[in-house]
Amino acid sequence: MKDRIILGIESSCDETACAIIKNGELIANVISTQIEMHKKYGGVMPEIASRLHLENIGVVIKEAMEKANVQFEDLSAIAVTRGPGLIGALHVGLQAAKTLSLIYNIPLIPVHHLAGHIYANEFVKPLKFPLLAVVVSGGNTELVYMEKHMDFKIIGETKDDAIGESFDKVARVMGLPYPGGVEIDRLAKEGEHTYHLPIPMHDGSLNVSYSGLKTAVINLKHNIEQKGETVDIKNMAKSFQDVAVGLIIDRVQKATKQYKVEQVVLAGGVSANSYLRSEIQRIFKNTAIDVIIPPLWCTTDNAVMIAKVGDYLYDEKVFAHLSLGVDPSWKIENYLKF
Ligand code: KG4
Repeated sequence: MKDRIILGIESSCDETACAIIKNGELIANVISTQIEMHKKYGGVMPEIASRLHLENIGVVIKEAMEKANVQFEDLSAIAVTRGPGLIGALHVGLQAAKTLSLIYNIPLIPVHHLAGHIYANEFVKPLKFPLLAVVVSGGNTELVYMEKHMDFKIIGETKDDAIGESFDKVARVMGLPYPGGVEIDRLAKEGEHTYHLPIPMHDGSLNVSYSGLKTAVINLKHNIEQKGETVDIKNMAKSFQDVAVGLIIDRVQKATKQYKVEQVVLAGGVSANSYLRSEIQRIFKNTAIDVIIPPLWCTTDNAVMIAKVGDYLYDEKVFAHLSLGVDPSWKIENYLKF
């Protein structure tokens, strides 16, 4: 029987990545990260991201093919991130995928970036339905209810900033380097919750809001400095992280009371946060709800998760036409409608 080989491509933000899964087994995983370049600007510069993707995409694909020791003619399908993400960055990955699809007549599978993060959990153990996916990243904060495979319903979301965005903005105000979430997590471990910050959004819904919290940290810091005092960065990091993570934990607890779920999974960049990881495990310990915490390598952008979703959709024959375009704000609920 012919081998089933899925090539995955990811370029939605600041990682250019390519991975190959052969008969369900990961055989190549190449990532070129742009993080050092964006650090200079304190965040991802979209124009620079697109240019670097363009420079790197060919090299990354070639390296993955060489590592896997496969030829383009051998590929069963090409899975590529179509959105959400930065428009120019997404275009680079999609155009590379479409070019290979056209030349070698290989089916093209459009992958939703956040579905990729959710399905990355299958590298730990199989997803069990119904489940609640806690999607927390630099661009998204969503509670996603899934009754079955590839069936996504948003039951709660941010009304303004994403949780990762608030970590990054607060970190910048505190003079910490990008990506700020990592720094706040590190400093919070050595700090205490001494600063009072308001807990946002008490509307009883499953939604969250992070913009007010960010403003509260900025105002608090200015007030302290105006009094001629210095801010204790570690305590500020801990106080902010407790409130930011506490908010999402509160909504997860509410959601699992309203929706009967078998499993809760974490997904996205902020799922690397050590406090969030331990809190999710703590609240579901000794309950019937199973928890999957993604391995750290799955919390950052990669193409393995894209190939994984592609592998699944290959069976379903979810193939796109070559006229497919990117969708920078693709809603996960509209997945498979393109
Ligand atoms: O998933 P991701 O790469 O972003 C999007 O594709 O949108 O996640 C990046 C985000 C950044 O905001 C970064 O600060 C945050 O994830 N992050 C963390 C941690 N590691 C990364 N936030 C809190 N704690 C961490 N340990």
